Amino acid sequence: MNKTVYSLGLGPGDHELITVKAKRILEESDVVVVPQSNEQGRSVAREVILHYIDASKIEMCYIPMTNNKEELVKRYTEVAEKIKEMIEQGKSVSYVTQGDPTIYSTSNYLTEKLVAAGVRVKHIPGISSINAAASMLGLPLSVKKGNFGVYEMPGDPESVADLIQRHPTTVFMKVNNKLPTLVETVKRIKPERAFLVKRIGLDGEAVYDMLNGATPPESAYLSVAVIKRGGK
Ligand SMILES: C[S@@+](CC[C@H](N)C(=O)[O-])C[C@H]1O[C@@H](n2cnc3c(N)ncnc32)[C@H](O)[C@@H]1O
Repeated sequence: MNKTVYSLGLGPGDHELITVKAKRILEESDVVVVPQSNEQGRSVAREVILHYIDASKIEMCYIPMTNNKEELVKRYTEVAEKIKEMIEQGKSVSYVTQGDPTIYSTSNYLTEKLVAAGVRVKHIPGISSINAAASMLGLPLSVKKGNFGVYEMPGDPESVADLIQRHPTTVFMKVNNKLPTLVETVKRIKPERAFLVKRIGLDGEAVYDMLNGATPPESAYLSVAVIKRGGK
């Protein structure tokens, strides 16, 4: 078994934001596995790849939304075994993820299990929502001698304030229902700029200025916050 399985990044959701390489590998794959955590919900990844391949090549794999580590490990191992079986049957297989496969992605866990099962995995990078958010705002993530930090949105205001003070630019991902904490904190500590960018490249795309604009809606599923403290 010397075939490579590809882990493809698809970009933030606009089908034109995938790489030429990812598109070619999608077209060459016999099976494209799409991991999805919400069985009922829409899969942005599926919608992106349907622009390039027929639905018959897509294999949806549900990963339960749970904090039960054992259950998750079991499920990822099952999906990895399934992929291994397919490649042993001579099929070319790839699996996909929204944004970049190495950033907060189910693909990271699946890759770990595949590698442990002796499968060779090659990642093809995708445009992360981090880059897409900064480009949409037309703001630099970093300039010479500067830096930026990327964090999963914390739940308590002290951690939010602490992280914002650490870097000239801070990006919070997975803001979701913690948005009220974020809005409250930026209003209190008054960084130079504070934006929430929602559903980039998808229907319902929106940008909220958290310091000066209208208050964003309560929930911010598929949102990235970009905060500029001021200074480099
Ligand atoms: C599981 S992480 C996946 C990150 C992805 N691998 C990446 O590189 O962008 C999901 C988080 O990514 C961000 N995200 C992904 N796609 C987005 C989009 N189209 N618009 C805004 N945020 C997005 C949100 O913060 C969301 O909560």
